[in-house]
Amino acid sequence: MKKIRTILALCAIGFVLAFSAGAVVAQNDPIAQRKALMKAIGDTGRAPAAMLKGEQPFDLAAVQTALKAMQAAGKASLALYPDNSKSGGDTVALPKIWENKADFNAKLAKLESDATSGLSKITDEASFKASYPDILRGCGDCHRDYRGRR
Ligand code: HEC
Repeated sequence: MKKIRTILALCAIGFVLAFSAGAVVAQNDPIAQRKALMKAIGDTGRAPAAMLKGEQPFDLAAVQTALKAMQAAGKASLALYPDNSKSGGDTVALPKIWENKADFNAKLAKLESDATSGLSKITDEASFKASYPDILRGCGDCHRDYRGRR
């Protein structure tokens, strides 16, 4: 009985170790992380895009969720384009990023600061319609130069 308990305990420790090793790999995978952050912007941005077109009623909370995702992505992405992440992981990031790193990083910083000012400026439907399209222009400005196609 004692032996079985020891074996079970060892299995549990093994499981925990294997699990935390997996988590460390995910944390050290900048390509997966930057893609997940961009995907979060895309996903949370669907509702505001529909609101702009008048296909969905205005919902301030949903707009703020999208802006917060942009803020988080703009900030965290600065560290997610190390030199060893130019290829692999199904990335569509273009080599031009690493040739113009200062410009690319400035565009990421702008994504964060635009989202931050959007969070304070956008308080109702009128201010949403006035400011949000300008924020979205930043997406295309960066993708045009720095994102390839899958
Ligand atoms: C500073 C540059 C930059 C800005 C600003 C930017 N993006 Fe991106 N985005 C990228 C790059 C680079 C990729 C490709 C990342 C990769 O594949 O490694 C990407 C990928 C994506 C993807 C695909 C994610 C996936 O599933 O792989 C979506 C969706 C996206 N961006 C949406 C947006 C939206 C919406 C905005 C504006 C609110 C935005 N991005 C602003 C650079 C940017």
